Amino acid sequence: MAKDKTVYSCTECGGSSPKWQGKCPHCGAWNTLIEGVAEAPAATRNRFASLAPASEVAVLADIEAAEVPRTPTGIGELDRVLGGGIVEGGVVLIGGDPGIGKSTLLLQALDGLQRSALPTLYVTGEESGAQVALRSRRLGLEQSQVKVLAEIQLEKILATIAAQQPAVAVIDSIQTVYSDQLTSAPGSVAQVRECAAHLTRAAKSGGTTIVLVGHVTKEGALAGPRVLEHMVDTVLYFEGDTHSSFRLVRAIKNRFGAVNEIGVFAMTEKGLKGVANPSAIFLSQHSEPVPGSCVLVTLEGTRPMLVEIQALVDSGGPSPRRLSVGLDRDRLAMLLAVLHRHAGVACMDQDVFVNAVGGVRISEPAADLAVMLAIASSLRGRALPKGFLAFGEVGLAGEVRPAPRGQERLREAAKLGFSVAIVPKANAPKPGARGAAREMEGLTIHPVERIEEALEVVRGLA
Ligand code: TYD
Ligand code: MG
Repeated sequence: MAKDKTVYSCTECGGSSPKWQGKCPHCGAWNTLIEGVAEAPAATRNRFASLAPASEVAVLADIEAAEVPRTPTGIGELDRVLGGGIVEGGVVLIGGDPGIGKSTLLLQALDGLQRSALPTLYVTGEESGAQVALRSRRLGLEQSQVKVLAEIQLEKILATIAAQQPAVAVIDSIQTVYSDQLTSAPGSVAQVRECAAHLTRAAKSGGTTIVLVGHVTKEGALAGPRVLEHMVDTVLYFEGDTHSSFRLVRAIKNRFGAVNEIGVFAMTEKGLKGVANPSAIFLSQHSEPVPGSCVLVTLEGTRPMLVEIQALVDSGGPSPRRLSVGLDRDRLAMLLAVLHRHAGVACMDQDVFVNAVGGVRISEPAADLAVMLAIASSLRGRALPKGFLAFGEVGLAGEVRPAPRGQERLREAAKLGFSVAIVPKANAPKPGARGAAREMEGLTIHPVERIEEALEVVRGLA
């Protein structure tokens, strides 16, 4: 086969150029040209043939909607985020910081699948076979029958997959794989994209489930997993702080299941262990309430979880800082403005830091109320009462909006022994006397409609 020619194509307009240029000759955008392969004309016809099998036009209602069969990996929390298990021919991308546990989890999963008599293949580009073996011993998988291949050249990996026909193949990691067709270095956007595309094709045509491991790079994920998100079926990300033992695996895209589902694991001496009932692990253990701390019930996927939000408000310099860990910083700026404008809580000359305990990332706006109460509590130096929690979205007009599935959140809090809650009015249990607190299994619920009302209730509780 003639060697394919290199071309550079623009990520903005799609135009191509035979050589690399700083500026796209078609649309004039800067730094948008990336390397790709221009194939010999004969190959062009067949390149995507396996991806687009011949198909007739059909009426939607007439097409049989077969449920995709899933194979559980045997790791409950992983199956939960995958939507029940792996799917034949599916491509899964697992991203996360180095050292967070991607290789550990996948080795455990492959071993589980191999035990249920599915042929598996673990392709390692980062570690030698001996290192993988060492890890497997550490995980207590001495008798593991998982096949291991230490290889980084794409063509050889594809040949091995074609020859071995594994049910599942893990590529650890996609950033180490390179194709001879491209001149750029392994880990570059061009290599990562081209290799992932070939592997995806192999998955679809051969029926192998392929799991790609991708490192999140510190410099904004340039050649990181983000560039692959659109071409795979399922995208999972590891979250959590490497200093704590808890790890979350979140599905952010899933063609075969619900998104935003999360799996919770604890890193132990013997690898990752699923935490089946995670609702209370993101609370820090204060024996007495401290200022600047407020608990929130967040609903990630199908399970409610209690997470502690901490705030520290301290006098700042001429340009005070706003920093957040696990929460959106722009949203924090907005909440501070709402606090000032509608509740008279001024933090203009103060540094404000907020943190979601345990390395969880909270993206839902239902965290607003807890964040604001934590900030107000820190500013005043007064702790919220023992057994207190709050949730609800806060709008720019100072209104407190309901959170989805409020009853479920409240039930979880009541189950864990919480005693006082401030929640949006629409989330509070029905009737009861107007404006008065309502009860639910030992939990006193204060419904509020506005942020100033919430702060008023807090003052009354102290
Ligand atoms: P690893 O799976 O190698 O991370 P990644 O592939 O995402 O880079 O996980 C490495 C970390 O996990 C390392 O810091 C050691 C720790 N670890 C344990 O705590 N227990 C174990 O049983 C194993 C295998 C690893
Ligand atoms: Mg690894």
